[in-house]
Amino acid sequence: MRRYVIAGNWKMNLGPKKAVELIEAIKEEIKGKETAGCDIVCCVPAVDIAVVAAACEGTPIKVGAENVHWAEKGAFTGELSADMLLEAGAEYVIIGHSERRQYFGETDLTVNARVKAALAGGLKVILCVGELLNERELDITAEVVAKQTKVALKDITPEQMANVIIAYEPVWAIGTGRTATSAQADEVCGIIRNVLCGLYGENIAEATTIQYGGSMNAGNAAELLSMDNVDGGLIGGASLKAPDFATIIAAAQ
Ligand code: PGA
Repeated sequence: MRRYVIAGNWKMNLGPKKAVELIEAIKEEIKGKETAGCDIVCCVPAVDIAVVAAACEGTPIKVGAENVHWAEKGAFTGELSADMLLEAGAEYVIIGHSERRQYFGETDLTVNARVKAALAGGLKVILCVGELLNERELDITAEVVAKQTKVALKDITPEQMANVIIAYEPVWAIGTGRTATSAQADEVCGIIRNVLCGLYGENIAEATTIQYGGSMNAGNAAELLSMDNVDGGLIGGASLKAPDFATIIAAAQ
């Protein structure tokens, strides 16, 4: 059976001091509560990874990075390799977030290069796919997410899929307060699962965690997470508020 994964994406918020404060607040919120029903991940700015990993030791909270370079090392000023992220304490990494696609020239091919490097390096991947508003209006959502998923997973082996989570994030729902309906989220997560079935067969498709992301919050999480094909959330804004993040974790139990 696939696992629910509730992952926060802190984006470009909080330096090390405030990051530890937020982790301490989340720890306080989940203390004594049931959390075994999902994996909990906080994907944090690179400068926070080491201190956040230390603060999460002995807790169910795991740490992720927000991006990774495809090379093992070398002359890539400003970039970070899988090895470096792991050594700092990251276990997961977000790849292909729409903000990276939109503002930093990320393409399906660079996403694939990063996924390969991350998995080869030993990180677990949260791979983001999702359509733009005009793509939804043109009724090509299925084609867009299928292409993104297929290219991102090129050369990824069936064994490696155990370390891949897919996050369906409709771009029009990210940071806009405009959430996909639970039916829309379920439909597209199901389309992605069908794509995985075509690539890897039914067992792997059924075992892969597919999250929804895009304005998931304390108020709508339970409904979204109740859908068959939605196995968790990738949460931006609401992951920066400890009580809200804890409510979403509770909804996943
Ligand atoms: P949001 O961000 O929850 O603030 O919409 C989600 C994401 O970008 O992963």
